[in-house]
Amino acid sequence: MSGLSRIAVLGAGGFLGSHLVPALSRLPGTAIDAVDLSLHKLEFSSPHLERHVADITDAKRIEGVLERCDVVLSLTALCTPALYSTNPLSVIDANYTHLVPIVEYCAAHRKRLVHFSTCEVYGRLALDTTARSTELMHEDDTALFLGPVSRERWSYACAKQLLERLIWAHGQHKGLDFTIIRPFNVIGSRMDFLPGVDGEGVPRVLACFMNALLREQELLLVDGGLQKRSFISVEEFAEAIVRVVERPRDCRGEIINIGNPSNDVSIRALGEALSAEFERQVPRAARARFRAVSAEAFYGPGYDDSARRIPDITKAERLLDWRPKVSLSAMLPAIVADYVARYGTELMPHSLQARAARTG
Ligand code: UGA
Repeated sequence: MSGLSRIAVLGAGGFLGSHLVPALSRLPGTAIDAVDLSLHKLEFSSPHLERHVADITDAKRIEGVLERCDVVLSLTALCTPALYSTNPLSVIDANYTHLVPIVEYCAAHRKRLVHFSTCEVYGRLALDTTARSTELMHEDDTALFLGPVSRERWSYACAKQLLERLIWAHGQHKGLDFTIIRPFNVIGSRMDFLPGVDGEGVPRVLACFMNALLREQELLLVDGGLQKRSFISVEEFAEAIVRVVERPRDCRGEIINIGNPSNDVSIRALGEALSAEFERQVPRAARARFRAVSAEAFYGPGYDDSARRIPDITKAERLLDWRPKVSLSAMLPAIVADYVARYGTELMPHSLQARAARTG
């Protein structure tokens, strides 16, 4: 890799960060500064890894880390949809306001910025520039279609979109070397938290469903669960990001979707596949039960949703020489096994734990 020696990973203690740091550490000649409010999920150590427990708004500490780095990966976010309509002020700050100084610092000090945005910027559904509906979401052609301001669900997408526009403008007018990543429903171990165990509130759907299975509770299908998502394994996602870091010239000034269009399934189908895998690994568990709930009952007022989100990944394939291959059914056994190992002791009845340990 040309001249790369030090990478700052802001948000290294989150789900994506905790998978990216070990993957990036495998790059020869690379040292990493891992920064987050908490680094418990980063179950990895290396002589070339330095851990910094710090707040992104602590300008002095953060600048102290950034000044010696060549590349900055910016991952900090509030990204659980339940917060978008219940705590939009914090969501806007975390996803926009607090990140403006990072973008400005990178532009002023010639640091390469790899920023993690979201597929949610595309909004409710894929529309081309003339507002005709299309199947795939494309980085440079698809319009960004958010709902009305009163639907606070879009506070997050709007903050993320504005940050993308800020980064883009710094690239066009201030010489910032940047790449923007739009992840599409990455799933894997250590995602979010389980309510009442290592966090409070409502996590994203994978953690909601695993929480329900481990506690033998109903899996709740928001508005019936017919809405769809395209899921990609976190390991394949991390591999794509390593390639982005390795290819600064090809990725400069690009927005890149990273997802798996082949794994486009309904939320109900995700729940059924997870339950089947859970029952395989924990045979004495009670059979999974599903219940449809309204979005209003589940999230409160102001929620809204994307009906379908399928990435166009031709740009990622071309620039990164990368293509995701792992099907949803192939990624679930390791994910379920990790949740059972991590949380089973606390949440599952003893009889089930013994059985899971033998079969998992
Ligand atoms: C979220 C974030 O907002 C995105 O920024 C992020 O990119 C994306 O996750 C991701 O994981 O990549 P979303 O897909 O809507 O977006 O989040 P989830 O909480 O995982 O919800 C997926 C769907 O499942 C939604 O339609 C939701 O209503 C539904 N859901 C969620 C249920 O039916 N039951 C649940 O218990 C939880």
